[in-house]
Amino acid sequence: MTDTAVPPLPQFPLARPRRLRRADWTRRLVAENSLSVNDLIWPIFVHDAANNAPIASMPGVERLSIDAAVAAAREAEQLGIPAIALFPATDPKLKSEDGREALNPDNVVCRTVRAVKSATKNLGILCDVALDPYTSHGHDGLLKDGEILNDETVELLVQQALVQMRAGCDITAPSDMMDGRIGAIRQAFEREGFKHAQIMAYAAKYASAFYGPFRDAVGSSVNLGLGDKRTYQMNPANGDEALREVALDIAEGADMVMVKPGMPYLDICWRVKSTFGLPTYAYQVSGEYSMLAGAAERGWLDRAKVAWESLLSFKRAGCDGVLTYFARDIARMIAEGKQP
Ligand code: PBG
Repeated sequence: MTDTAVPPLPQFPLARPRRLRRADWTRRLVAENSLSVNDLIWPIFVHDAANNAPIASMPGVERLSIDAAVAAAREAEQLGIPAIALFPATDPKLKSEDGREALNPDNVVCRTVRAVKSATKNLGILCDVALDPYTSHGHDGLLKDGEILNDETVELLVQQALVQMRAGCDITAPSDMMDGRIGAIRQAFEREGFKHAQIMAYAAKYASAFYGPFRDAVGSSVNLGLGDKRTYQMNPANGDEALREVALDIAEGADMVMVKPGMPYLDICWRVKSTFGLPTYAYQVSGEYSMLAGAAERGWLDRAKVAWESLLSFKRAGCDGVLTYFARDIARMIAEGKQP
């Protein structure tokens, strides 16, 4: 922790903190943090259909056709967004007990990766590694007699990560929270010649109710039903455990780590960054987006201002960047010089 001790304070009227807030120029001069397009990773939902489809619980976000995802990726590149993250909404007919569509080199994610790669030059592609978009029970791993099998799942995740890398993915982001998966994936990457493959570990991922709209978007909520992910995702009551999870993922070969969700876990962001100093990201998840976007839609909040303020909070908490559904909005605001 870098907290500085507070020196003996001059008294009013010598001390007038408002001096530094009197005008835009001075507020900018003393600003401790800033938000830039380089801080943004834009999550995009893709599906195998000709048209885009709205997501009722995420106002302003759609499941995109592959063509539309390519257009979105081009715009992201033009705006200077460093990377996008791809999430598939899988045709229910392709879902199975073991989520084997995750290993199909022609699944919608792999096809999108190839299409985006050939249409862009300077845009990173992040792919999520987990089975939940593909399983008929909506869990991130293999389910047997009511238990999520760890080691058997890890074997599939390794295959999934390799399939995505072969398609041209740049950053693997395992979001499944199985034990040992980062090490297994890293070893497989080295073995298969993917020396430059980056791993951004969803290192401290909580069993959160804020993922609800995402599960609607990828169509896993119907599959999961009343089930929950508390045997693999972390208990929201815990903070020290997040540091142990992050330490493991770093030891196993992660290049970057992520805390998820974001806004309710800014303390974790701060602790992770100040303990390890690794590139640290937060995921401002679907429920966080929808709270703000939904309220803005009703006229209760100013969308641009709350998006900006919420993202700045991650910078203050020490994050190097944020996965956020507001990424394009923010990048457009920056490009147009219209930041609030
Ligand atoms: C899948 C995954 C989830 C999210 C990202 N990857 C959902 C979950 O774990 O149930 C959530 C992202 C969001 O809510 O925006 N393992």
